[in-house]
Amino acid sequence: MKHELPKLNIEYDDLEPYIDKETMEVHYTKHHQAYVDKLNAALEGHEDLKNIKISDLLRDLNKIPEDIRNAIKNNGGGHWNHSFFWLLLKKNGADPVGEISEAIKNKFRTFDNFKEEFTNAALTRFGSGWAWLVMNNGELEIMGTANQDCPLSEGKIPILTLDVWEHSYYIKYLWNRAEYIKNWWKVVNWEKINENYKKAIKYFDKEGISKKLRI
Ligand SMILES: [Fe+2]
Repeated sequence: MKHELPKLNIEYDDLEPYIDKETMEVHYTKHHQAYVDKLNAALEGHEDLKNIKISDLLRDLNKIPEDIRNAIKNNGGGHWNHSFFWLLLKKNGADPVGEISEAIKNKFRTFDNFKEEFTNAALTRFGSGWAWLVMNNGELEIMGTANQDCPLSEGKIPILTLDVWEHSYYIKYLWNRAEYIKNWWKVVNWEKINENYKKAIKYFDKEGISKKLRI
């Protein structure tokens, strides 16, 4: 099986003026495509790994032969993280809905507190990386990862993410990551995030013990 770019469920210009058409097109057709191509190249000659879902490879990096482990971590992570990220973008995003809205209030007191903490994680991620809302042992948690590292590799379940690599905002915002983050909140797909949350809580019992994870 060859890994492929997933189909986008939005048009390149749907997120204008917050995320511009050119950034979307370059980000998806050049950057994301490059991760997919390098992932396929790394898997050449490893027939046993080719049919394993990328999320499963990332969950257990130690099982990957050492000579290609970093390539899978970086390019497999790049492929999975971006595939996850695209689904969380939407024209005319709104405020949180459903169960995730309640869960955020329970954990962070208010949506504004959550927004501030998540924004801070995104702003302070030094260099290239991602900000995440994840489920960790049954609890919501905000975290960051460097490069293309994925929370799946730490046994956590991603619920929401924001790409803060410069390639995700430089064409429109230049150095101004803060402005990009502020505007990104306007195109967040909370229906999808709520689905991710409901899926994640199914895999934890009352004591927060994880069952078999499947994303
Ligand atoms: Fe990216």
